[in-house]
Amino acid sequence: MDLGIKGKVVLVTAASKGLGYSIAEAMLAEGAKVAISSRSEENINKAAEQLSQSGKYEVFSTPADLSKSTDVDRLMDQVLNHFGHVDILICNTGGPKTSDFVDTTSEDWKIGLDMMLIPVLNMTQRVIPKMQENKWGRIIFMTSTWVKQPRKSGVISTMARSAISGLSKHLSNELAKDNILVNQVLPGPTWTDRSKNITNSLAEKRNVPVEVIKDEIAEEIPLRRYGTAEEIANSVTFLASEKASFITGASLQVDGGQIKSTV
Ligand SMILES: NC(=O)c1ccc[n+]([C@@H]2O[C@H](COP(=O)([O-])OP(=O)(O)OC[C@H]3O[C@@H](n4cnc5c(N)ncnc54)[C@H](OP(=O)(O)O)[C@@H]3O)[C@@H](O)[C@H]2O)c1
Repeated sequence: MDLGIKGKVVLVTAASKGLGYSIAEAMLAEGAKVAISSRSEENINKAAEQLSQSGKYEVFSTPADLSKSTDVDRLMDQVLNHFGHVDILICNTGGPKTSDFVDTTSEDWKIGLDMMLIPVLNMTQRVIPKMQENKWGRIIFMTSTWVKQPRKSGVISTMARSAISGLSKHLSNELAKDNILVNQVLPGPTWTDRSKNITNSLAEKRNVPVEVIKDEIAEEIPLRRYGTAEEIANSVTFLASEKASFITGASLQVDGGQIKSTV
C-alpha cells in the first residue's frame, strides 16, 4: 500500500537507536526525506549513515541534546534551513529516570521536564507556521502506556507525558482547520536498549535472572511478548500517512493489549 508520504519531510528526534531509529527507517521506506537527531554526534552520524543506505534520500543528521534549549533552537534552525519546512514532526525523547515520588528530587523533576516537555513545545511551535501555509501537517507525540496506566516508579514519565497528552488533544482541535493532524502514540513494553536496561536493573535489585523479569512483564501482555521497535514504527508511519487523513486527537496504544481499560 502506498501511504502517500513520498517526498514529505520528516523530523524524528532521539533517533540514533530504539524507537526513533526504527521510525526514521520506516519513513524512509515510504520514500520520505528524513532528518534525525540525538545527543551524541558520533551515534547520530553513524545512524544516519546506516539509514542512508536503505533510503532514496540521504538522511540529514545533527546532534542535539533535547534538554538544552540552545541545542533545540539550533536543531530547528538547521532542519528548517536545510529543507525549508517540516511536514511530519515525530516528537520522541530520551526516557526519564524511574523512581517513586517520595524519592524524586527537584533536580530529577527539572531534568525530566527539561528533556521531555519543554523541547516538545519548542519544536512543535517552530514547525506549525509552514504546515499552516501548506495546509498539510502531521505532529505525533511519542508518549507511553504509562499515561493511561501508571506504573510503579514511573512518576516522572507519567507526569510529563500526561502534559503532552493534554497538548496533543488541544492542538488537534486548534490545528484541524489547517489540515494539521495531531496524535499521540503510546508504546507498551518494547525490546530496545532502554527496556533492556530497566529489566536488567530490576533483575539486579531482586537478585533474579533477567529472564524472570522479562517473563513477568510478558505475562501482563495478552500477546505474551514485548513489542519490537519496528512494530511501533509501523503504527507511527500509518498515523503520519495520507491514509490516516481522518484521524486527529487520537491516542493510539501499541502495547500487545496490555492496557486493561475498554477504551
Ligand atoms: N522501549 C519501551 O518499552 C518504551 C515504552 C514506552 C515509551 N518509551 C519511551 O520512548 C522513548 C524512546 O525509548 P527507546 O526505547 O527507543 O530508548 P533507547 O533505545 O534507549 O533510545 C533512546 C534514544 O534517545 C536518545 N536520547 C537520550 N537522551 C536524549 C536527549 N537528552 N536528547 C536527545 N536525544 C536523547 C538516545 O541517543 P543519544 O544517546 O545519542 O542521545 C537514543 O537515540 C523514551 O522516552 C522511552 O521512555 C519506550
